[in-house]
Amino acid sequence: MEKYLIRGGKRLTGEVTISGAKNAAVAILPATVLSGDICVIENVPNISDVYTILKILEHLGASVRFLNKTTVEIDARHLNTTFIPHELTCNMRASYYFWGAILGKYGHARVSMPGGCDFGVRPIDQHKRGFEAIGATVEIVDGMLDVSAEKLIGNNVFFDKVSVGATMNVMLASVMATGVTVLENAAKEPHIVDLANFLNSMGANIMGAGTDVIKIHGVKELHGTNYAIIPDQIEAGTYMVAAAATCGDVLIKNVIPKHMESISAKLEMMGVKIEEFDEALRVSAERPFSKVDIKTMPYPGFPTDMHPQMAVIACLAEGTSTVTEGVWDNRYRYVSELQKMGADIKVDGKMAVIEGIEEFKAAPVKATDLRAGAAMVIAALCCDGETEIEDIYHIERGYEDIEIKLCSLGADIKKIDVPEISGAVAM
Ligand code: EPZ
Repeated sequence: MEKYLIRGGKRLTGEVTISGAKNAAVAILPATVLSGDICVIENVPNISDVYTILKILEHLGASVRFLNKTTVEIDARHLNTTFIPHELTCNMRASYYFWGAILGKYGHARVSMPGGCDFGVRPIDQHKRGFEAIGATVEIVDGMLDVSAEKLIGNNVFFDKVSVGATMNVMLASVMATGVTVLENAAKEPHIVDLANFLNSMGANIMGAGTDVIKIHGVKELHGTNYAIIPDQIEAGTYMVAAAATCGDVLIKNVIPKHMESISAKLEMMGVKIEEFDEALRVSAERPFSKVDIKTMPYPGFPTDMHPQMAVIACLAEGTSTVTEGVWDNRYRYVSELQKMGADIKVDGKMAVIEGIEEFKAAPVKATDLRAGAAMVIAALCCDGETEIEDIYHIERGYEDIEIKLCSLGADIKKIDVPEISGAVAM
C-alpha cells in the first residue's frame, strides 16, 4: 500500500504551477462524445480521475492519444456502445457526466451508479428532474441508471438545490435537444463556465453560464474542437493554504485570481499576505494567524472543497475559529485524523469549532477523501517529525504530481510502498 512520508517543519518557498481543473476536465472529456468528431484538449491534469474517464471513453469506442503530458486527442467518430459497466464507474463521482453526454448524443444511456468521496448521501434527484423535463425516462435497473428518450425537447428546469453535477449533466443532455432549455437556480462554478465554453467551441449555443440562469438553444450537431481547460481553483487554494500555514513565501502560477477571491479574502483576514498578478498569486505569512469563521457555499461563496484545508490553518490560529459546511451533509471525516495530530477541533452539528494550538504533532493518519487527504498533507508539512499518510490514492485522484510540486517548494515528502499485511497471522 502506498503512503506519503512527510518530515515537516519547513517553510515552503519558491514557485509552483497549477494544473488544469479536475472538475472541469471530468465533464469536458465525456462531452467529447457529443462531437462525434476529433477533439484536442489541452491543460488536462495528470490525475487518476482523468485516467478513469479516458478508460471509459475507450470502452465506448473512442480512441485516446496523449500528444504530450497534458494534451489529449480524443477521436469520438466510432463509438459503439451506450453502456458503461460498474467496474469503470465505481471509484469516482464524475462518471455520471456520461449520462448527460450519451443521452444528448444517442438518446439512450445505461451507466452504473457513480462512486466518489463519501460525504453522506449524494442524491441524483436534480439530475433526474432535468433529464425528465426534456423528455427522458430515468430508471434504476440493477444498480444501473437507464436514461432514454425518443426525442429530447427543450424545456424549463428549476433546480430545487444548486447542484454542479446536475447543472452540467442537463447542459450536456440538452445541447442538441429540439428547442430551448432554460436552467434556473443553476450552479455558477468556474468549471460550469468552462464546460459551456467548451460546448460552444464545438458549435453549441449556450448563454448565461456563470449566472443562475443558463439558456441552451438546441443545435443539430456539434463538431470537433481544440480547447484548453482552465486552471484548478481548488488545487491553487490548497497550495495557498500550504504556503501560508508553513509561514512560507510561494508564487502560485497559472491561476485566475478572480476564481480565488473568496479563498484570498479569508486568508487575508487571518493575516496572510497575498499579492495579485495577472495569472499568479504570491502568498506569504508569518504567525500569529488571526482566527477565522467560514461557511462553505456554492460559488462565488467559499468553496466546500477548501473546507478541510482551511480547518488546518485555523488549527494554528489564535482563539476560536469555525468552519460551517453549507453544501454537504457530512464533510467532517478529516476531523478525527487531525485530532490524532493534536488538533483541538469539535463538530457541533454542521460546524467545526476549532481552538488554536501551538503546533501539530506527527502521527500516522489516513486520507479519508480527496480534500481531507490534502488537508492531512498540509498538517504534516506544518509539524516537526515524520508523519505517515495512508490511503493516498484519494489524494492522487485530484492533485497532479503533488509530491514533485511540494519537493520543488522545499518540502520533505516521499511516497513509499509498504506491503499490505494480509489477513490474521496464523497462531
Ligand atoms: C461537485 O460534486 C464536485 N465534484 C465536488 O468536488 C464539489 O464538492 C461539489 O460539486 C460542490 O461544489 C465534481 O465536480 C466531480 P453537487 P457534485 O451536485 O456535482 C445536493 C472535489 O473535492 N444534490 O453540486 O456531486 C448534494 O447532496 C469534489 O473535487 C442533491 O440534493 O455536487 C449536495 O448537498 C468533492 N441532488 C449539493 O446538492 C442532486 O441531484 C451539492 O452537490 C445533486 C446534488
